[in-house]
Amino acid sequence: MQLNIFKDYQTLSLHAAEAIVETVKSKPTAVLCFATGDTPRLAYELAAKKAINEKVDFTLCTFIGLDEWVGIPEQNTGSCRFFLENLVFQPLLIEPARIHLFDAMSADLDRECRKMDEAIAETGGIDLMIVGVGLNGHIGFNEPGVSPELYAHVINLDNITLSTGQKYFSGATALKQGITLGLKQVLQSKKLILMASGTKKAKVIQKALEEPINNDMPAGIIRTHPQGQAMIDEDAAALLHLQSTAPASE
Ligand code: PGA
Repeated sequence: MQLNIFKDYQTLSLHAAEAIVETVKSKPTAVLCFATGDTPRLAYELAAKKAINEKVDFTLCTFIGLDEWVGIPEQNTGSCRFFLENLVFQPLLIEPARIHLFDAMSADLDRECRKMDEAIAETGGIDLMIVGVGLNGHIGFNEPGVSPELYAHVINLDNITLSTGQKYFSGATALKQGITLGLKQVLQSKKLILMASGTKKAKVIQKALEEPINNDMPAGIIRTHPQGQAMIDEDAAALLHLQSTAPASE
């Protein structure tokens, strides 16, 4: 695993944005899977700006959804779809045919999962996956204790996810389950970037990157990924003994 510790959130976001744009420069048909959440928000804004300024065309890319809140309609400003539409798909002019997101309102969520597994297989695999990490160590909605053998699945959300998840919604929202890519798909992505920022993530980052790997800390999977890169800021690295690896961080 490569570990890059950046001085602050802005610098971290700039470097993550660069990694996104570079992926598409070298492969204009890249298959991209982007987490939602507060952490990657600025990186996506900067990536879209950079792509527009440098005329890097994302319209041949395919986008795969990482996760969604079950039962939350897509127009809800807290939905993962709403986030990606606004920060990624609209600025980068992505056609709906190139976007594969979970329909978390579907009456047949298992079918949604199989559809997603097939969509990924048909693309030939995810080239770049960007994930955040929850306070409980989740990646996407792979909650503590989840089997690393799963592909897309529906899961009961853990209490920490249920309470922190409220921050994405404009009012109190009933949340119960998530639909998510599985850790198998996280591991099969050709490149995996895990982002974390802020002192509130320091403890979970220390556990994920330094404690023995186990199912209760899904984010630990970054260490078993052959092209895993943890990009974090100094605040999130506050409890780490590990040092930043090359390339040198700023
Ligand atoms: P955050 O969410 O980026 O809003 O902290 C991370 C996550 O729960 O995956």
